[in-house]
Amino acid sequence: MKSGLLAIASLSLLAGIGVVSVVHTKSAHAQGGSAAQPDIASLREEVETLKRLLPDQAHAVADVDYHFANLWFAAQNANWPLAEFYLNETRAHLNWAVRMRPVRKLASSGEIDLRPILQGVESSGLSDARASINKRDLKAFELAYRGTMLQCYGCHIASGKPYLRLRIPETPATRMIDLRGKAD
Ligand code: HEC
Repeated sequence: MKSGLLAIASLSLLAGIGVVSVVHTKSAHAQGGSAAQPDIASLREEVETLKRLLPDQAHAVADVDYHFANLWFAAQNANWPLAEFYLNETRAHLNWAVRMRPVRKLASSGEIDLRPILQGVESSGLSDARASINKRDLKAFELAYRGTMLQCYGCHIASGKPYLRLRIPETPATRMIDLRGKAD
């Protein structure tokens, strides 16, 4: 829900910039002169503007929070197709977050490459969660979910953010989606 709104907002912003930049380029042409030089400059300017409009990594991981919390409750309700959906969303948003900023600077100088850590989470915790969902096995799911949570936290520690501790959610993040398998 949140990410959807955000996407629409950023799309319309991007569309706005597209229009502005087309007008900009045309007027540069109309003025004649060497077209190559100003074009590169204005492209640079546009790239900088677009960068400022992109959501930051904190936004993408806040989406992970949303999907991963709902995943727990979808499984508790034995709503396995929904659980699979939220697992996929969790995975997609984690990947998006890491693509945005694959390497983070650490406060203690030095850097951390998030990509191998994410690969580890994908091939163990998230993969076990998928297997448990396919088997419709709640016990196995809970084990895999807790295991994934430990790995999530492992990456927070590695990123210099040990205060981002995670716990099993008390309530679902969604207020709109009916998490039960069958409506009555
Ligand atoms: C590859 C590393 C990595 C993995 C894996 C990871 N995180 Fe994070 N997470 C981060 C980083 C880095 C931040 C801080 C982002 C920032 O400072 O902009 C963060 C922040 C967060 C936040 C705080 C968002 C906020 O601003 O309130 C939550 C919640 C979160 N992660 C949940 C999770 C969950 C749930 C998982 C596992 C399903 C997970 N993370 C897996 C790196 C990771």
